[in-house]
Amino acid sequence: MEVTQENVQYFIEETKKISEYDFTGYSLKSFTRRLEKILTDNNLDVEALIKKMERNRKFLETVIKEITVNTTEPFRTPSLWLKLIPIMREKLLKLPQIKIWHAGCSTGQEVYSMLMLLYEMGLFHKTKIYGSDLNEDVLEVARSGKYRLHDFDEYWNNFKESMVDFPKFNYEDYLDVNRRRGVIKVRSFLLEKPVFIKHNLIKDGNIFGTEFDMIMCRNVLIYFDHELQDKVFNFFYQNLTTEGILVIGKHESILSSIQRKFDRVDSIYMKKNKEDNWIF
Ligand SMILES: C[S@@+](CC[C@H](N)C(=O)[O-])C[C@H]1O[C@@H](n2cnc3c(N)ncnc32)[C@H](O)[C@@H]1O
Repeated sequence: MEVTQENVQYFIEETKKISEYDFTGYSLKSFTRRLEKILTDNNLDVEALIKKMERNRKFLETVIKEITVNTTEPFRTPSLWLKLIPIMREKLLKLPQIKIWHAGCSTGQEVYSMLMLLYEMGLFHKTKIYGSDLNEDVLEVARSGKYRLHDFDEYWNNFKESMVDFPKFNYEDYLDVNRRRGVIKVRSFLLEKPVFIKHNLIKDGNIFGTEFDMIMCRNVLIYFDHELQDKVFNFFYQNLTTEGILVIGKHESILSSIQRKFDRVDSIYMKKNKEDNWIF
């Protein structure tokens, strides 16, 4: 089914009217493809789709899930984790308490990867960790800590490559892998640690009542236009502690002037001390 820019605009406008979801400022390109698929799969035009979403809340949530991209994986982009580990050692080891937020965490694999790393680094006990997402369905999966083995099978190398500094690391200490049943269950000491909470990056502000020593928000802002990205980067800056770490996706970067307030290693940004921001 052919979808025009007007169709996408209409979808965004009407969704805003009938729900709390506001996709103004999302990149139209990925929305067009996704809307096309939703319309074809449901054999509806965009007006009928909106009407059905208005009548049926469950259907609305399903469409929201399908219109946003939820793909994720454990230890995604091992090269990033390899660069992050020494930075975490430098910035986090010395802190009495560590607060980490995974914004746009989808089904939680990144949060559990971080928890495994924190455990191996001896930082687990002093860390408070949050995962948030726009979508309640993916958060339910994250909270359950249950995954299909099939979904992990192509990523075992991610574990090995990312955790090469920890020769004793064994993922089975953290994951109960039932090969016969084809399921993976996060072990309970890990499962109990994170707080997963519904949060819309665009409008919900800091609902956590704390600043963060590290914010990870990978492969989320890539779907936003530059204006919206800048708004979120500013928001992250305001809610990071001094020397706090912001991690974004490998295809994302901060383009606005706020980038000067960070030191940078690839897609890892470290908030500078205020004094370092002075321009002489
Ligand atoms: C591609 S996934 C990225 C997951 C994980 N960060 C990673 O890199 O593997 C993008 C996630 O961002 C979420 N998302 C999109 N817009 C959002 C918003 N405005 N606020 C919070 N989460 C959002 C989607 O629901 C989706 O789960």
